[in-house]
Amino acid sequence: MTNTITVIRGDGIGPEIMDATLHVLDAMQLGLAYEFADAGLVALEKHGELLPAATMDSIRRNRVALKSPLTTPVGEGFSSINVELRKRFDLYANVRPARSYPNTKSRFPDGVDLITVRENTEGAYIGEGQSLSEDGETALLTQKVTRRGSERIVRYAFDLARRTGRKKVTVVHKANILKSTSGLFLKVAREVAAQYPDIQCNELIVDNCCMQLVMRPEQFDIIVTTNLFGDIISDLCAGLVGGLGLAPGANIGTDAAIFEAVHGTAPDIAGQGKADPCALLLGAAQMLDHLGQPEQATRLRAAIVATLEAKDSLTPDLGGSGNTMSFAKAIATRL
Ligand code: NAI
Repeated sequence: MTNTITVIRGDGIGPEIMDATLHVLDAMQLGLAYEFADAGLVALEKHGELLPAATMDSIRRNRVALKSPLTTPVGEGFSSINVELRKRFDLYANVRPARSYPNTKSRFPDGVDLITVRENTEGAYIGEGQSLSEDGETALLTQKVTRRGSERIVRYAFDLARRTGRKKVTVVHKANILKSTSGLFLKVAREVAAQYPDIQCNELIVDNCCMQLVMRPEQFDIIVTTNLFGDIISDLCAGLVGGLGLAPGANIGTDAAIFEAVHGTAPDIAGQGKADPCALLLGAAQMLDHLGQPEQATRLRAAIVATLEAKDSLTPDLGGSGNTMSFAKAIATRL
């Protein structure tokens, strides 16, 4: 059966890692067809808008997209297109696995295998109600958390635990200080957890969670948390397993899903062939799971692990002297 997916090549290192990823997917002969669509800076230059209707239509039609990172200007300029895509398609679950792989610069070569499940559509991160007073002295932001939003993300985390044979869900919050927003999230999480007696559940305040992650990451299995905390925690977890080059992420909704790397456009190395394609490739593996092809996802992950074990053509972030495409080609030969 042919699956058509929407492909967004993105900017910065985006096109390089996407070419590498598609090279590997092509070598797998999965019968995947690609519909290329533009978003962000590239779309603005080509079509005069950041999120063209054709891109929205393509994702709506195919229901699955593989996306490279998109630039968001810091402090000023347009709002994040990544956030916009998540909002428009109601991609409420951001699922970010962090796993130790061989021959990486991880401080924990064996001990990390956890998933951050991050609420993706509400909270401080979406930047609702941002304003700056005329005198430039006071900045405001609205932070909204809902029972519905909290319930569906916590339920997603517990269902994921059951589906994947994981044993424990850690609810991460700041309800001691943010008594309304984080308080509601925690209250709902406790209610949902009570419906899953087969899955162990514990609670951690976010600052303690960060310390525990760095000291004893092996105690974590699945973390479920709100949007901004999840954003920060998942980069921390990427650091635990050897860097952003190895951290994928899925944005899952009821009607669509977008698969990507956790990292951004890496302007410091863009165009130099130095970018590690593994994060996007591991995102593609999540996509294959989602498309109902778990054996192909396993095949792809195994080829990545075998290439890391052989230290064959690795990119500089992993201590190698290969480049983005040579790494991808080495993976493709091990499929
Ligand atoms: P970044 O993730 O692009 O880079 C952080 C550091 O990690 C840099 O030193 C970079 O060289 C390195 N790095 C990232 N990906 C790598 C890879 N595949 N291989 C080797 N090294 C890699 O974060 P930064 O610099 O804070 O953000 C740059 C831009 O990316 C910003 O405009 C930001 O908004 C955007 N961004 C987009 C995301 C998305 O599209 N989902 C996610 C995160 C940031």
